[in-house]
Amino acid sequence: METRITQKNSDQLKPKPTDESNLGFGDIFSDHMFRMDYESGKGWTDPRIQPFADISINPAAIGIHYGQEIFEGLKAYCGSDGKISLFRARDNYERFNRSARRMCMAEVDIDLVLEGTKQLILLDREWVPKSQGTSLYIRPTMIATEPHLGVRPSNEYIFFIIVGPVGAYYKEGLNPVKIYVEDFFVRAPIGGTGEAKTAGNYAASLLAAEKAKEKGFTQVLWLDSAEHKYVEEVGTMNMFFVIDDEVITSPLSGSVLAGITRDSVIQLVKDWGMKIRERALSIDEVISTAKEGRLKEAFGTGTAAVISPVGQITYKGEDHIVAGGQMGKLSQKLYDEILAIQYREKQDPYGWVEVID
Ligand SMILES: Cc1ncc(COP(=O)(O)O)c(C=O)c1O
Repeated sequence: METRITQKNSDQLKPKPTDESNLGFGDIFSDHMFRMDYESGKGWTDPRIQPFADISINPAAIGIHYGQEIFEGLKAYCGSDGKISLFRARDNYERFNRSARRMCMAEVDIDLVLEGTKQLILLDREWVPKSQGTSLYIRPTMIATEPHLGVRPSNEYIFFIIVGPVGAYYKEGLNPVKIYVEDFFVRAPIGGTGEAKTAGNYAASLLAAEKAKEKGFTQVLWLDSAEHKYVEEVGTMNMFFVIDDEVITSPLSGSVLAGITRDSVIQLVKDWGMKIRERALSIDEVISTAKEGRLKEAFGTGTAAVISPVGQITYKGEDHIVAGGQMGKLSQKLYDEILAIQYREKQDPYGWVEVID
């Protein structure tokens, strides 16, 4: 299927941000978007790139009422040679299709949407920021649009991709964050939708995140829903702990999102000859090893922040300082290595980076 392109006239283009040190996250969007439509029996039709615009949806659309919606988050980077590249984009679209299956939605043709992503970025290439730490954030999204108020999967969907320049995700930048261990609210149960990237998971997380923010914390550390005992994710990131000389992250047991950055970190740490285990880790073990001085580092991983070091963990009213409140050695090494690969300053032995022009 050919993607149809309707370009804005040059006098309709929006002004680009002039200050790349102040891009923030998720407020600025480029001039164009990709879109296609699905109907049962017909499949996906009319892939097109069009001017960025509001979408009109029937107020009875299933996606609005019952949350049949999925999305992805990935980035394009501008190297010092001016060439633009994507990082593990196919993995994001494979996860998108896994989310689609979990939410009873239509899968997409990965080659088609990958090609659409590249065409959109190249058309809006002036929107890819160039300074260190900045990137073009890419948000593929699918929403159920059939007007119907009975609870069942929709027969109609729209898929779109919007993109926009972003800076550092956290206002603290790489400074270690303070996290609050949430022992009442949960993000996702095993058997639920935690391993799908679907809107409801994020809506469900807001109240705990707001309460933690009011108390001065940056993020919530989520525990498992059955026993409130095992650490799972931090905010919208996967979580890693370094205890003695072992790196530990929770297994993908159904409630945790299979992060692409998580997978990259596991690969790098293995290749550096360090011990790494995916195993259930209790908050009691985290706290006791912190008290004994054996918890060397803790950090979150995700596309937005890459590596987010944790400087303080607060559990049941007690503060525990991690790595002296500083960024740990491994966190720094991983951050440097992943960024060097993403910006193509370093050889990529893994085939993670694809130059698109
Ligand atoms: C809940 C959740 N966990 C983990 C991640 C990290 O995943 P990735 O490394 O693919 O960005 C994300 C962000 O995408 C997320 O939303």
